[in-house]
Amino acid sequence: MELNTIESHGIGAAAERSAGTDRTAKKVFVKTYGCQMNVYDSQRMTDALAADGYVATDAVEDADLVLLNTCHIREKAAEKVYSELGRIRDMKTERAEAGRELLIGVAGCVAQAEGAEIIRRAPAVDLVIGPQTYHRLPDVLARVRGGEKIVETEYAIEDKFEHLPQPKHAELARRGVTAFLTVQEGCDKFCTFCVVPYTRGSEVSRPVAQIVAEAERLAEAGVREVTLLGQNVNAWHGVGENGEEWGLGRLLFRLAEIPGLARLRYTTSHPRDMDDELIAAHRDLPALMPYLHLPVQSGSDRILKAMNRRHTARDYLALIERIRAARPDIAMSGDFIVGFPGETDEDFEATLKLVREVGYASAFTFKYSPRPGTPGAEMDGHLSETVKDERLQRLQALINDQQQNFIASVVGRTISTLIEKPGRRPGQILGRSPWLNPVIVDDKAGGIGDIIDVRITKTGPNSLFAELV
Ligand code: 5AD
Ligand code: SF4
Repeated sequence: MELNTIESHGIGAAAERSAGTDRTAKKVFVKTYGCQMNVYDSQRMTDALAADGYVATDAVEDADLVLLNTCHIREKAAEKVYSELGRIRDMKTERAEAGRELLIGVAGCVAQAEGAEIIRRAPAVDLVIGPQTYHRLPDVLARVRGGEKIVETEYAIEDKFEHLPQPKHAELARRGVTAFLTVQEGCDKFCTFCVVPYTRGSEVSRPVAQIVAEAERLAEAGVREVTLLGQNVNAWHGVGENGEEWGLGRLLFRLAEIPGLARLRYTTSHPRDMDDELIAAHRDLPALMPYLHLPVQSGSDRILKAMNRRHTARDYLALIERIRAARPDIAMSGDFIVGFPGETDEDFEATLKLVREVGYASAFTFKYSPRPGTPGAEMDGHLSETVKDERLQRLQALINDQQQNFIASVVGRTISTLIEKPGRRPGQILGRSPWLNPVIVDDKAGGIGDIIDVRITKTGPNSLFAELV
């Protein structure tokens, strides 16, 4: 899966506020692991539970239901979930002694991959629910309260998005001026290192009308920037409003027409699905931000083949050339795996060479982690942790240099900034550059949701300091 990995807590401070004075409402604490799609899913699960009378909370001690929305992309991600479950089990035991119930649920990709095994290994867990069945959460909870333990990991036949309730306008407005919107889920590419095709299932695109309606609702609630999400977002396709088959490029042209939506992004893409219309969208749509996350994983053709990426290093470089011809100021980002089985020093050097040729504004680097059930795990030539560590450090050093060069190149320039929220210090406000860097500006610069031009005066490690022009 090619979405950036993050970890965040508590979807919920606000929902608590919006619940007003209802102190009897049941409370849910959601902890999100993994990629932006999980962030989006956590929000939609919270919405489904709100319809069932649950209020979100940021304080795990207040919760009646703890939901871990998990990630299975690398080993550590799953292990973290089990250690977190140990802590929550202790809380559940204390609660039971005090005569109060605590329900524990595991959702997301670990839930899908491990299923009933989770309850065997962590018997305190009450429910396990895979990513395709979140709309069934209220039903599942009702059965859990009736004393059952539930494992719900079927790929549902019905469209979960159609069954998931939409949040209220006020709730959307409260969530801020940027939003995620899942347009596509699952993956048919079967890269040999990756569990996504097994945990998220095969590729499914949401219909155009559903996406446009959701984007319109977001815009009406004051959202200025929407990031379209998909494990393989540029494989999205659907029948357009004109009856023709649309790809992601055409969809972006349509979304750019929605009043109020000033910025569009999408993540994450596969090089093989970057078609002409998507490149044209980068050329012709000012709303489409000049930043592209386009993972390549390795610069060695031998390894790319073993990874089943189905393109060469040269194909990738030629593609970037075409994209840069269409949008010269585009900043590139990527994902890299070091230490794939059989990777030689020479293969690794080829990766460094590719990175030098592209010049990334940012990139994510990972040590190969064998995932059970994937072809990579069965291959010969697994490398030692020492070799993986050493390669990771060298690659990271190179990418850090490039990242520093990139942000240094912005100093002195005037750039557009979307103001997102108050800054950490009084008198400051926090914005976002077209390339996703945090921008710190004087709070007289504008209000939340404004897009303003600022001049960059200096940089921090990843953030930009700016003055009004
Ligand atoms: N080991 C290491 N990194 C992985 N990724 C996916 N699967 C693995 C794995 N088994 C990385 C890829 C992907 C990103 C989201 O995570 O680089 O693009
Ligand atoms: Fe995983 Fe490859 Fe699909 Fe990305 S394209 S989600 S890395 S199988």
